[in-house]
Amino acid sequence: MKKILFVASEGVPFIKTGGLADVVGSLPKCIDKEYFDVRVILPKYTCMKQEMKDKLEYVTHFYMDFNWKNEYVGVLTAEVEGIRYYFIDNEGYFGGFKPYSDNALYEIEKYSYFCKAALSILPIVGFQPDIIHCHDWQTGLIPVYLKERFHEGDFFRSIKSIMTIHNLKFQGKWNPRTVQNITGLPEYYFTSDKLEAYGDANLLKGGLVYADAITTVSNTYAEEIKTPFYGEGLDGLLRARSGDLRGIVNGIDYEEFNPETDKYIERPYNAVNFRKEKVKNKRALQKELGLCQDDKKMMIGLVSRLTDQKGLDLIAYIMDELCQDDIQLVVLGTGEERYENCFRHFDWKYSDKVSANIYYSDPLSHKIYASCDAFLMPSLFEPCGLSQLMSLRYGTVPIVRETGGLKDTVEPYNEYESRGTGFSFANYNAHEMLHTIRYAEHIYYDKKREWNKIIDRAMAVDFSWKVSAAKYQEMYDWLIG
Ligand code: GLC
Repeated sequence: MKKILFVASEGVPFIKTGGLADVVGSLPKCIDKEYFDVRVILPKYTCMKQEMKDKLEYVTHFYMDFNWKNEYVGVLTAEVEGIRYYFIDNEGYFGGFKPYSDNALYEIEKYSYFCKAALSILPIVGFQPDIIHCHDWQTGLIPVYLKERFHEGDFFRSIKSIMTIHNLKFQGKWNPRTVQNITGLPEYYFTSDKLEAYGDANLLKGGLVYADAITTVSNTYAEEIKTPFYGEGLDGLLRARSGDLRGIVNGIDYEEFNPETDKYIERPYNAVNFRKEKVKNKRALQKELGLCQDDKKMMIGLVSRLTDQKGLDLIAYIMDELCQDDIQLVVLGTGEERYENCFRHFDWKYSDKVSANIYYSDPLSHKIYASCDAFLMPSLFEPCGLSQLMSLRYGTVPIVRETGGLKDTVEPYNEYESRGTGFSFANYNAHEMLHTIRYAEHIYYDKKREWNKIIDRAMAVDFSWKVSAAKYQEMYDWLIG
């Protein structure tokens, strides 16, 4: 039995702020249990739902030398859907109302502690992985520590590591002297061939330098991050390591996202009866959100973290023009204040057309995927993107910018060959986006049969984890040898 350990800062069903949590929650379940024992380590955040905290059992606790202190490390465990989870407990670091704070230095200290604690508990819980699969900057120190202080003694010597990039934008940076103090790493780690980048110590860079393999969450993003525009300053390193870098597109949980069995939606439907049934969801949502009730109106959805990454400045720029059209727009998500307020403003200005829901809600997100005709995702960059996969699954036609995973998962509509599962545009330009939305409106209103055939094709593509989980397994096998 090969042993794989996932370490991440968030994971469904325990804690979620974004797509990372969906991947960490769903991929381990799809790895073949006959050959692999996959376990997961997460922080035990105080802000986890009580119902989840109630599932955790105390295992043990000890004190660990960290940042010139003796820090408490509590270990808890739970088994959910056949996956063994371990939690690192330290309320000093994982207290608070949200998993992440805006204090960059504090975040560095917190996740440095997490990395060291995650390794330290392994001999104690008696799990010696063949591979530690690390996710994003919060776990970047693990490959570094594996090479450094943990390599004495046999336990850690043969453990391999994989670094998966879900988002290169966040790297965990601070001045080298402070980071050296916190991490306890020797000074020679803070040079430009190791952790240092542009004068800072960079934890993700450490992970990318020391991991045995690097992956990211789509093929296109794997290529893009080797260029300066998408490389966030690390494109040179990623070019240098391109032999060890590959893209594996994310899947989604096909049980959780299934229009036939979804508990949250008004009327279940499938690829056969969507022509009649899907609109009943739209009717219910229009009523619930106080929008004009009209089966025929083209309803466009947007479920997203409201950050620059998602291309929201393009939408803000053409909102007044878009709202002259015969459409409805339903927004769900939280994030940067200027975008929250922008959508609130348009909700006020076009109250029968725009519904801004500035919070997060699983039930409402499912209703939006089920009810809308189209789904808008004009990202500036998108490592993979999961919402467009959920939209395809629900027969809600994605309108996307051709970047990262959006380019790899949405095939643009081609009216001459009757192909395609969505609409897309290439340049980060508001009017190019508006033009594409209007082209979609034209097909929706004037060529309804064509529109429905797009839905047929969208609902037929398969972005469950089946294919991608096999690719991870192949990589695990190859690394373990
Ligand atoms: C991040 C990326 C998103 C990706 C997700 C899971 O949230 O922004 O594109 O789908 O991670 O890998």
